[in-house]
Amino acid sequence: MSLKPLALFVNHDGQSSRSATTCTYKCGNACFHEVPNASAGEYFGDIVARLNRRGLLKGGAAAVLAVGAASALAACGDDTTDGTDASPSGSPGTGTGFTPVAPNTEDAVVVPEGYEQGVIIRWGDPVIEGAPQFDFEAQTAAAAAQQFGYNCDFAGLLPIEGSPDKFLLVVSHEYSTEPMMFRGYNADAPTREQFDIALASHGLSVVEVHGESGTGKLTPAFGKYNRRITATTEFEVRGPAAGSDLLKTKADPTGTKVLGTLNNCSGGVTPWGTVLSGEENFNQYFGNAETVTDADAAKKLKRYGIKGAASDRKWETFDPRFDLAQEPNEVNRFGYVVEVNPWDASSAPVKHTALGRFKHEAATIHVAGDGSVIAYSGDDERFDYMYKFVSAKKVQSGTGASAMRHNMTILDEGTLYVAKLTGDHADEIDGSGKVPAGGFTGKGQWIPLLETGADGKGKSLVDGMSAEDVAVFTRLAGDKVGATKMDRPEDFEANPKSGKVYVALTNNSNRAKDDNPGVDEANPRKLNKNGQVLEIDDDHTGTEFTWSLLLVCGDPAAADTYFSGFDKSKVSPISCPDNLAFDPYGNLWISTDGNALKSNDGLFSVVLDGDNRGETKQFLTVPKGGETCGPIITEQRVLVCVQHPGEADDATPENASSHWPDGGTAQPRPSVAVVWKKESGRIGM
Ligand code: FEO
Ligand code: CA
Ligand code: CA
Repeated sequence: MSLKPLALFVNHDGQSSRSATTCTYKCGNACFHEVPNASAGEYFGDIVARLNRRGLLKGGAAAVLAVGAASALAACGDDTTDGTDASPSGSPGTGTGFTPVAPNTEDAVVVPEGYEQGVIIRWGDPVIEGAPQFDFEAQTAAAAAQQFGYNCDFAGLLPIEGSPDKFLLVVSHEYSTEPMMFRGYNADAPTREQFDIALASHGLSVVEVHGESGTGKLTPAFGKYNRRITATTEFEVRGPAAGSDLLKTKADPTGTKVLGTLNNCSGGVTPWGTVLSGEENFNQYFGNAETVTDADAAKKLKRYGIKGAASDRKWETFDPRFDLAQEPNEVNRFGYVVEVNPWDASSAPVKHTALGRFKHEAATIHVAGDGSVIAYSGDDERFDYMYKFVSAKKVQSGTGASAMRHNMTILDEGTLYVAKLTGDHADEIDGSGKVPAGGFTGKGQWIPLLETGADGKGKSLVDGMSAEDVAVFTRLAGDKVGATKMDRPEDFEANPKSGKVYVALTNNSNRAKDDNPGVDEANPRKLNKNGQVLEIDDDHTGTEFTWSLLLVCGDPAAADTYFSGFDKSKVSPISCPDNLAFDPYGNLWISTDGNALKSNDGLFSVVLDGDNRGETKQFLTVPKGGETCGPIITEQRVLVCVQHPGEADDATPENASSHWPDGGTAQPRPSVAVVWKKESGRIGM
């Protein structure tokens, strides 16, 4: 194993291609509600060698690092320990030598010539040995709790030590789409069984997958690590909010045990072999916010987009914990970064409150030269913020029980910061996307919000807020310190090769619209429907950074797009950047969500260094109605999660708009796909 960190229909908002069904079930119609942020805020070369000397890259941890997943490692710089890659990153064709896939609306995963593909696992496939085979017409909650969940998003691929080409595939299941899951679904009166199936279809799956000699195919297998985590699995709460009054409920007077995780979007693999997952649009699962009359409590709910009477799924009619009138604090127990140890199927997953509570798209780890751990995380909402957590503890080497115990407490002690950006050419930013001479560039500052000590107790660094307040109502803390309002910060991730950090800013059609905040240099376009990608040169453990825009996305023929100066006649159109990954050569790969250019979503490679910086090529597209998620790029394989294939306003089981992956008249099934090069070649070579 290499030691390298291979590392609708109607555009009802007139812009993104997302269907109204997707908007309702994925994010609770976040883009149609009032913007929750009404605050007045203003606008490593030798690290691997060093870690190796300390033994950090030995054993299983090193193996974990070998797969880029969305985050892992520790390793800036040139890791040539396996002798397979001494090529300069960013050389033309190094890792991006494929013929781009043209924009299309096929009901298929479309890959470049010379590549093959397969499906690894689909919604409903057995994860736990003995689970029933999927039967769309006879679903039960008991079966769903043992089968692969719905709407896969993040994927991590963790090598199993001592078993070549065998991995743990860890996948999150962001949300359920009841009108597509159940024939004759009545949204006004869902059944108890449908509610229970939905709970079981959320969460995460851990499943062993095995390679096949001569191809890149991966096949699921039953093993001792296989596990389903759902919306009813018991979690341990850690950090400053654990045990706080804000987290106490009738069912849990300790405020330390939460049932389940919700809306798990993207995530990251840690160098110590665990998986982080972001609880994103958790607001939508809670009903009867309008019964909360206390002004302060109502203000806090509103800041998190929680309002109105009944929720769309009506879960509050089945379990009082989803009813704010009966249980006002349950909602405070969601919106965290969760950590799962996939190597112990009986371990309780953890909610890390030291990293704050917001709509975490993900959390991804970078290890600084001194062993400090930085967790980067974006708050995916229009006009919300970018955060990082810097640990006080250092990573310990090895995968033994003692190191694992230590490393699983790293995210419990440290400092949480929020980002404030300024532009170098503020006078030149007019909302048109016109590029200032020298590009969109600027400086930034990390403003500390919350310091968590060795005893797990927090210290607030924000006037007028307690530590518990900052941990639970982190958005309000960001408001108070004047953090910069961004265009939906999604994946936020350091390049293992260079240490530079990238943020996908998906879109923000409300930028400079009506009374909403205007443009700034990092968010330079009015009514931004195509998004941009930010590149940060961060002092990882410090408080200063510089930044530039790598891409301003959209149709390359349009004047308001920018590809770092690369010839725009030679790039693929890209819209709504969402998830990020890095290949073994240091190229950035971007998956998209909601393509506003009338093509299916896709996966793109972007060269970061050298003469071809900015070269952007579409590697694959996903079936119609689907979103490309969870990309993993290794030397041998590309994995993507195909989320919500066929999701369209009028799509029902009787009127399916996609039949992927099974074809014929089959119902669409969210699934994980794998792509490999014929003749077992290296990806992109
Ligand atoms: Fe679940 Fe921000 O996408
Ligand atoms: Ca996402
Ligand atoms: Ca998304």
